[in-house]
Amino acid sequence: MTKKLFIKTYGCQMNVYDSIRMNDCLAPLGYQSSDTYEDADLVILNTCHIREKAEEKVYSELGRIRAEKTRKAEKGEHMLIAVGGCVGQAEGGEIIKRAPYGDMVFGAQSYHQLPEMVTRAIRDGGGVVELDFPTVQKFDLLPETTAPQGVSAFLSIQEGCDKFCAFCVVPYTRGAEYSRPAETILREARHMVDQGTAEITLLGQNVNAYHGESPYGTMNLAGLIHQLAKINGLDRIRYTTSHPRDMDEELIAIHGSEPKLMPYLHLPVQSGSNEILKRMNRKHDADFYLDIIARLRKARPDIAFSSDFIVGFPGETEAHFSETMALVERVQYASAYSFAYSPRPGTPAATDDNQVEDAVKNERLQRLQALLRHQQNTFNASCIGMEMDVLLDRTGKYEGQVMGKSPYMQSVHVKNAPELHGKYVTVKVVASYLNSLAAEVLEVHNTYRKAS
Ligand code: SAH
Ligand code: SF4
Ligand code: F3S
Repeated sequence: MTKKLFIKTYGCQMNVYDSIRMNDCLAPLGYQSSDTYEDADLVILNTCHIREKAEEKVYSELGRIRAEKTRKAEKGEHMLIAVGGCVGQAEGGEIIKRAPYGDMVFGAQSYHQLPEMVTRAIRDGGGVVELDFPTVQKFDLLPETTAPQGVSAFLSIQEGCDKFCAFCVVPYTRGAEYSRPAETILREARHMVDQGTAEITLLGQNVNAYHGESPYGTMNLAGLIHQLAKINGLDRIRYTTSHPRDMDEELIAIHGSEPKLMPYLHLPVQSGSNEILKRMNRKHDADFYLDIIARLRKARPDIAFSSDFIVGFPGETEAHFSETMALVERVQYASAYSFAYSPRPGTPAATDDNQVEDAVKNERLQRLQALLRHQQNTFNASCIGMEMDVLLDRTGKYEGQVMGKSPYMQSVHVKNAPELHGKYVTVKVVASYLNSLAAEVLEVHNTYRKAS
């Protein structure tokens, strides 16, 4: 008998990958994914704990799902509610205390045990809390096969973090840094390509700290990319998120030598002020970061950059903030994410006495975002007239519109071409907007399998 499974995913791409794998784990029990929680037999919220707002969203969603659970109960049907991911890991049993209609809580390292947890929750009427960081890695216990993700897919290769930036919960919610063995990654990648994937984004909280076992000894990320690039049919490789400290010489060099590696890199800097970077425990200064950017540009002149910024970290003055603005001016980003500092329980910065007032944080955030928006618009406009290859992997908002990502991660849309959904095309960019490019198709390739 099939049962309906609804998974809602919050937070980073690692969670997106984990949600896909949760589906894989539950398929043998007869669970089929559904895109609504109405009538679902099992609802999983795969949560994010990175900022306060992310956490609040989980509790408001739980309230909505509770109403559906009650409605089902009135019909004599049962719904299981589970909270997984980083809020699950951080808050554990507290969640069931605050939301007693929740049946299961688990962390990002224990979801391979979902079949057993579900059985226990049904048997015991809820109350399942599974937060261990098991000694056997979940990756070794997940199903070998995974459901097709489509032309563009995520693949987690590294997890956790040992860097302990003073603002960040990830080392606590995801645990210590771990790299999957290269062979298992290559096997999974080949399996994805056999199922029609042409672009893989390698994932990890510190993906460029990758150092996995391989038959040739420890392999770094450049080595892994080199091996992946040999897979026929895999045309595009990306990786995210990187830490400046782990951008080694080989990784910089491969951006110049491997055409399958896309010319775009998300390299968070957080702040342009050395004093703030030090307080953040980032273990790099602004010059170190700018030097990496320069070396990458030398290796691959058209490479585009993105970053993350935190404004209003404890102790940040207007002078520190202006150093962030100056760094942004120096780099010229293609896109970027920026956040007001959000104190997180259990992290060192949360108890710092020099918290910045919300109004100041928000005002700085607006100034930074205006500058970043301007740079994004400028970058997008610079693409007008360019020819580029795009994998049209989605349908757009408008009738007949199809979309895909440019090599530089911009969304590219093409009008009136529903038949091109799923195709690899060469386009000419004809207009630019803040968040996308409009393009006309010059050439359609019969397979996705054309190296850019
Ligand atoms: N591993 C990545 C980032 C992971 S979290 C890295 O090392 O850069 C994603 C982004 O969320 C971070 O880059 C940071 O900009 C932001 N972030 C993390 N903790 C935050 C906090 N407490 N308040 C505001 N933003 C935060
Ligand atoms: Fe968080 Fe820093 Fe680790 Fe990134 S490097 S996950 S920001 S602790
Ligand atoms: Fe959020 Fe956890 Fe990712 S806290 S950003 S879902 S690692």
